[in-house]
Amino acid sequence: MASRSDKRGPSYSDIEEGTKKATPLTHQHAHEIQPYGKIAKLPIALDEKVCAASADNLNQILADTITLRDLYKKHHWQVSGHTFYQLHLLFDKHHGEQDELVDSIAERIQSLGAISLAMAADVAETTIIPRPPKGREEVPIQISRLLEAHEIILREARTMARDAAEAGDDGTNDLLVSDVIRANELQVWFLSEHLVDVPVVRAEQAKAASAGR
Ligand SMILES: [Fe+2]
Repeated sequence: MASRSDKRGPSYSDIEEGTKKATPLTHQHAHEIQPYGKIAKLPIALDEKVCAASADNLNQILADTITLRDLYKKHHWQVSGHTFYQLHLLFDKHHGEQDELVDSIAERIQSLGAISLAMAADVAETTIIPRPPKGREEVPIQISRLLEAHEIILREARTMARDAAEAGDDGTNDLLVSDVIRANELQVWFLSEHLVDVPVVRAEQAKAASAGR
């Protein structure tokens, strides 16, 4: 019967080789495989020039949508006043919906064989939505700022949707019309109603009628 000491375990060099294989290869660097702005053609029966034009437009909408999404989070955190709770929740709901749009737009760009913007610095260089101050603002200013951002996106989305339809890029047209435009229009309605100056408890007309008696 073989004793314990007779069993041959792995040699030192085997152990060293195995450990090498198990060690993560960190700090790797290489050139990018596709530069920004170039199309890696995919078999989607769409001309490369059409893909490039759509991706260019979509990256603009993406940068503006990321900015609007982040503006909602800023206002979600910084809102104040007697409507704090409802606006705190509404701003977060709209933030989540804009975040879904961000993913859909970015993945549409990748589906066209292009590269989507991703990082904050690149987004900041690209967006046309005015930069808000770092500090806290009053509710009507927060809402006005959001409405202005929505309108910028809606204006460019309508033009880009028409361009995509004319070029035969139905997928991009559908994304812009069915998702971007519809979601932004609905959010504009929810926000705008907060800027209608109506009394909260006593109707103005009832007040005037009782004063006239
Ligand atoms: Fe939160």
